[in-house]
Amino acid sequence: MKDLYGNDVTTQSEKTIDAINRFTTSLIGYGTDFAAIFEASDEDPNCAVAATLGGILGLFIETPDRLEIADKYFNRALEAAAMSTEREQLLVEAMWASRQGDLKKSLGCFRKLAALYPRDLLSAKMGQTHYFNLGDDEGMLWLADQVIDAHQETAYAHGMRAFGLEQMSQLEEAEEAARRATEMQRCEPWAHHAVAHVMVTQGRHEEGIDWMSSLSGEWDGCNSFMYTHNWWHLALFHLEREEFKKALTLYDTHVWGRDKTYSQDQINAISLLWRLEIAGVDVGDRWTDVANYVSDRSFVQDQPFLDMQYAFALARGGKELELNNLLAGMEMMTVDAPQMTRGAWEDVAIPATRAFVAYADGDYAGAEELLAPARENMQSIGGSHAQRDLFEQVWIQSLLRQNKFDEALPLLQARVDFRKAPELDLHLFEKVKAAASA
Ligand SMILES: [Fe+2]
Repeated sequence: MKDLYGNDVTTQSEKTIDAINRFTTSLIGYGTDFAAIFEASDEDPNCAVAATLGGILGLFIETPDRLEIADKYFNRALEAAAMSTEREQLLVEAMWASRQGDLKKSLGCFRKLAALYPRDLLSAKMGQTHYFNLGDDEGMLWLADQVIDAHQETAYAHGMRAFGLEQMSQLEEAEEAARRATEMQRCEPWAHHAVAHVMVTQGRHEEGIDWMSSLSGEWDGCNSFMYTHNWWHLALFHLEREEFKKALTLYDTHVWGRDKTYSQDQINAISLLWRLEIAGVDVGDRWTDVANYVSDRSFVQDQPFLDMQYAFALARGGKELELNNLLAGMEMMTVDAPQMTRGAWEDVAIPATRAFVAYADGDYAGAEELLAPARENMQSIGGSHAQRDLFEQVWIQSLLRQNKFDEALPLLQARVDFRKAPELDLHLFEKVKAAASA
């Protein structure tokens, strides 16, 4: 049978195809209609695609038994692979290699899938997620470029390409692709998001507020990552325009509260609270609630980008025991993590995390010393340029709080020049310039 994008699927069950289609649309469109894949796979165990998607869903759900669930489906997929097509076998191989920590092999399979089977948009999206977590923007765009000709009529494909272009700093092309996606299909939250990235990078904050506000009604049906992350972007525009009250209100009403147990919701909340504090805003006791949820996490050590920010929340929330456990677990990742990411844990995530803890303790010299070597390879921990900008702000603050104005000024000057000076950057630059010459 064929799935919604015309890919052959080894099954005779309408129910399996329906579940695969719902899963595919939810994954690419950031929806919530995933769960039917479990039952469909249980009733149709010889379908390798359904079983693989069950495994992927197992990895997404953040419960203590997530790996057990994932492996049940991945093992089923491995058994079914022998009776499957080459595309299906490649998908099984890609995800099984990823589960085993062989990211090089996994990415090789995803590249092959995109080149040989460009109609397989779901695999391209999964491959992009892997590249994103490795900070490999080139890989992310390459995958989208392979599949775009086969998906000229699919809004999501243009959205996927738009974000790859944006991260590769091809901003005009990125905006064009994202606007095209949104015109084709108004509810394309990833395309809305790509335009927000372009506008924040170019300092077009007022436009960004108009763009995201006008589309925010489309996000209600999104999963909690996309919902809170797009609202986070809108709050970021307000924050950088020094509309602090508005940013804090968005934090309370949209960024924090959708699913407080989920990693990405927590990261959006931590990132916004931290930036608000750097801007001098009193965030009250908001860290307590976030730190409570972070300390209740059943698993950490998933992505360095996440752990680094969990640590700051735990430090700000006074969760010393949980913080020490997190740091000990991060140390283990220098041995246990997939080969491709061990360097990122050891050389970047761990020293940066220790820097953030020092920063939370008011030890700015310590923060500077620890963060200095980590800054060089910050991209390797994953996340977007806009997300990682927080760490650059922490670096600048560490200098400023030691009155190292001469070192901070060129960095602030570069920010002002590069982004047409949103109010927050401009006012900080002027203040530091005055302090330096006083
Ligand atoms: Fe983003």
